[in-house]
Amino acid sequence: MAEREDWALFRSVEGLEQKAGVPEGRLRRLVMKEIADNALDAGARMTWGFVLDCEDLHFIDDNGPGLDGTPEEIASLFSIRRPMRSSKLLRLPQRGALGNGLRVVAGAVLASEGSLAVITRNKRIELCPKADGSTAVVSVTAVARPVGTRIEIGLGPALPREDDPFAWVLAAAQIASEGKRYEGKSSPFWYDPAQFHELILAHGSQPLRGLVAQLDGCTGGKAGEIVTAAGLDRMSCDSINRRQATTLLQIARQHARRVSPERLGSVGRDAYADHSYAIERGRALLGSAKPQADIPFVAEVWARKTGDKGGIRISMLVNRTPVTSHLTAYRDSDKDICISGCGVNHGFEDTPTKGAYSIVVNVTTPYCPITSDGKAPSLKPFVDTIGVVLSTATKKAQRAAPKRKRLSIKQVMLGHLDAVIAEVSDDGEYRFNPRQLLYRLRPIITNEIGQELTTPNFNGILSDYEREHGEIPGMYREPRGSIYHPHREETITLGTLMVEDYERPEWLYNKVVYIEK
Ligand SMILES: Nc1ncnc2c1ncn2[C@@H]1O[C@H](COP(=O)(O)OP(=O)(O)O)[C@@H](O)[C@H]1O
Ligand SMILES: [Mg+2]
Repeated sequence: MAEREDWALFRSVEGLEQKAGVPEGRLRRLVMKEIADNALDAGARMTWGFVLDCEDLHFIDDNGPGLDGTPEEIASLFSIRRPMRSSKLLRLPQRGALGNGLRVVAGAVLASEGSLAVITRNKRIELCPKADGSTAVVSVTAVARPVGTRIEIGLGPALPREDDPFAWVLAAAQIASEGKRYEGKSSPFWYDPAQFHELILAHGSQPLRGLVAQLDGCTGGKAGEIVTAAGLDRMSCDSINRRQATTLLQIARQHARRVSPERLGSVGRDAYADHSYAIERGRALLGSAKPQADIPFVAEVWARKTGDKGGIRISMLVNRTPVTSHLTAYRDSDKDICISGCGVNHGFEDTPTKGAYSIVVNVTTPYCPITSDGKAPSLKPFVDTIGVVLSTATKKAQRAAPKRKRLSIKQVMLGHLDAVIAEVSDDGEYRFNPRQLLYRLRPIITNEIGQELTTPNFNGILSDYEREHGEIPGMYREPRGSIYHPHREETITLGTLMVEDYERPEWLYNKVVYIEK
């Protein structure tokens, strides 16, 4: 007989697909999203891109609180063997929660023989995830980087390259700072006894009172009163049984007030200003034991009619981060808009029966049931409310749709080109390459006219533009081919930046052999 630890699944591409619930072609995107979710959960501003213009070497940078601990402790955070450790087990409307994110990141590096560096608190820590499930510290160097966290991650060919590995990062970043957020603590109304017991046990030998003090309405001296009233003075979390947890939950609830869905805040209509907007709030009773968890939630939908013909494009977010499991929207035989995936397969009556729409849905909730390790959320508890908002938003979008002529991809791209150049170059400060433009323009175009900007089409439009207006200042193209100086035995790759730096050696040669493969 042979046996395997469950973390062994993080070791291979196939296992990661299973653990994370996404196909291999989406794993790069998922890894970047996990890193970005952590940065955004930390309330930080974030930047991202490729290091040294290499498409396998990515960075995500934030100005948050940074990572606590010694290099060894940080290494263990990035190890696939660690228990699901998280500072976010308390239910809150935030992105992480399972403590699985960094295990996926480490697994992807291991499975693809990539590289990993964490830069935080003035240290650059190079890490190496190992097949035995641990992660080794390869080196620690001093760097001038006091604020925030920067992750540099290299991924190997075992993880197939994809169109835009930062697509989900961008989607999350775009709405991260919109609207209002919940500023309060986790409420005792958000747990049923079974889940509350799990929460307590996950805190191991920590004093029970300290955990209770982190709950809404239970801070300071009240935590002591509550623990005493439950007859659990000086107990540690790991010694609590289910019955005691239930009593404690009931007493904690007497000290707290239910959190109204209004208090959760909202993303707001401005997040997608060119879309029509609707919002609806609700409550869901969840959990297997009584008293059930009383979960407030907010459903928001932004919709835009993108054409008279064509399909429905939907992107689904929970707590401002994209849902990674597959979700599709289509029209059923009655022409109603339907959503399939994330535990629902539901047709929404009272939606426009023709026309192409681009739809964004966000649900804000301190707790969304999850159907797999990959955080595939189950939207079932929210689906009726989503239906109401979807109907309102799409009907508004139908009325708002201008009856003007359709714009071409080229028109939309050129209309946005200057703004996107200003964005990627930080108003002319930095150099940039065409791919950065492509990745920013693509979602804009899909959003406006529901069409995909392909790489060849983009290159064609860009070349035409430069032919007409001259070279775009600050843009460089990557090396294609190389020049070899036999006298110096030196090979120089040929890209914009190298050509700019090139100085012709004096009187060394007067002939060039040109070979095109
Ligand atoms: N960029 C960051 N800034 C601050 N803390 C972070 C950052 N990235 C990770 N962490 C910490 O590492 C923990 C584990 O992260 P992760 O494995 O993604 O699980 P989760 O996000 O579900 O808690 C987080 O709970 C957080 O405390
Ligand atoms: Mg996370």
